[in-house]
Amino acid sequence: MILLAKLDSEQAAYDPEQIDASELVQQVADRMLPFASENNVKLKVDIAEGMTIYADGEKMLRALLNLVVNGIRHAASVVEISFVTRGRQKLLIVEDDGDGIPPDLMDNIFHRFVKGKQGDTGLGLAIVRAIVEQSGGKITVENAETGGARFIILFEGNG
Ligand SMILES: Nc1ncnc2c1ncn2[C@@H]1O[C@H](COP(=O)(O)OP(=O)(O)OP(=O)(O)O)[C@@H](O)[C@H]1O
Ligand SMILES: [Mg+2]
Repeated sequence: MILLAKLDSEQAAYDPEQIDASELVQQVADRMLPFASENNVKLKVDIAEGMTIYADGEKMLRALLNLVVNGIRHAASVVEISFVTRGRQKLLIVEDDGDGIPPDLMDNIFHRFVKGKQGDTGLGLAIVRAIVEQSGGKITVENAETGGARFIILFEGNG
């Protein structure tokens, strides 16, 4: 995606609706399958049917695509997208088994133009965070036990 298109996508009107989470995640997996195969990365989806979130479907799709593209770029062999509920909390998780977020980037990874050595424009995660926050959610990142990056989108009592 070119720079202007990216900046633009951040500003389009916010249009929330009830979204079927498994449909959303399946759409992401379907769209990313060719890129995953090209990179010899498996996509795993772990989500129960019938879960919903209240957000802008187009924008959440864009946010998840950004996370999964990053995941595929950095994975050793697999990217997993999962959806978990914990009481009133809903968590969308994108995790890969790569080398994880470099420690020096951890604190400002969601800022514009922050990128690693192999980075592209450094806008993807800033857009992801803007979308998630616009939807009333929060996004955090940690490195998983495997060492890979784990992005967690949290909705509290949403939809
Ligand atoms: N899953 C990941 N594993 C390891 N590092 C990651 C991962 N996702 C992002 N990063 C690091 O965070 C940086 C910022 O990511 P971001 O998506 O914002 O920008 P980008 O991917 O470099 O460019 P683009 O604007 O095309 O997305 C990346 O350059 C990379 O160094
Ligand atoms: Mg990116």
